[in-house]
Amino acid sequence: MFAIVSDIHSNLEAFTAVLAEIERREIQHIVCLGDIVGYGPNPVECIDLVIQRCRASLMGNHDFAVFYEPFNFNAGAEAACFWTRKCFENDTDTQRRAARWKFLGNLPVRIRTPEFVAVHASPRRPVNEYIFPDDIYTNPGKFVSIFERFERLCFVGHTHVPGVFLEGPDFYSPDELDYRFEITDEKAIINVGSVGQPRDRDPRSSFVVVNDTYVEFVRLAYDVETTVRKVEAIAELDNFLGTRLLDGR
Ligand SMILES: [Fe+2]
Repeated sequence: MFAIVSDIHSNLEAFTAVLAEIERREIQHIVCLGDIVGYGPNPVECIDLVIQRCRASLMGNHDFAVFYEPFNFNAGAEAACFWTRKCFENDTDTQRRAARWKFLGNLPVRIRTPEFVAVHASPRRPVNEYIFPDDIYTNPGKFVSIFERFERLCFVGHTHVPGVFLEGPDFYSPDELDYRFEITDEKAIINVGSVGQPRDRDPRSSFVVVNDTYVEFVRLAYDVETTVRKVEAIAELDNFLGTRLLDGR
């Protein structure tokens, strides 16, 4: 049994609540699918926690943007990216600073085990491609190519919308699955949702617990108001990055 988290986005209140829940369940191993930073007010604290607590982490497009350069970002996301970089640079402990940059720059783009593949975004373009539920209707051909890229199970994040894609193509939200997806021989892409910025109109943090025969979707309330206040207090962070958390959008 292990947990998969994704899209923490510098939201310390959400991430510490999720880590406490994982500890309460006595789950030893955590995999992070990336986007540790970007958007939120506590990038340094969140990356330190991922280094301490996660067995592995992947490179998300926001991690890439902070380390290299923002690509195709809106103004708010780009400003958050440069502010995040400044937070890393402001640490006067040079060794700690170098260790964080090294960790960020060395994040892999894919994890492959006999049981599953994990990427931040999509098995076709692991850092950047969005797989949205609407693509089933607007771009069904996309799924043929994406499903060819893995054997059985593929875990993703990136859209901040949890759920399961089947080869149909079909999409099932956690609600429709009663928060439990039985693992069969059928191929599935499982989006674990976002810890720090859910966008499915449910403001609670989202993550999954992977058991031998099924995947459990978990939602967890956290102290959103504190995160919103922190965002509002930082001039470089657009207030919308806080208020959107209240409605999970
Ligand atoms: Fe993200």
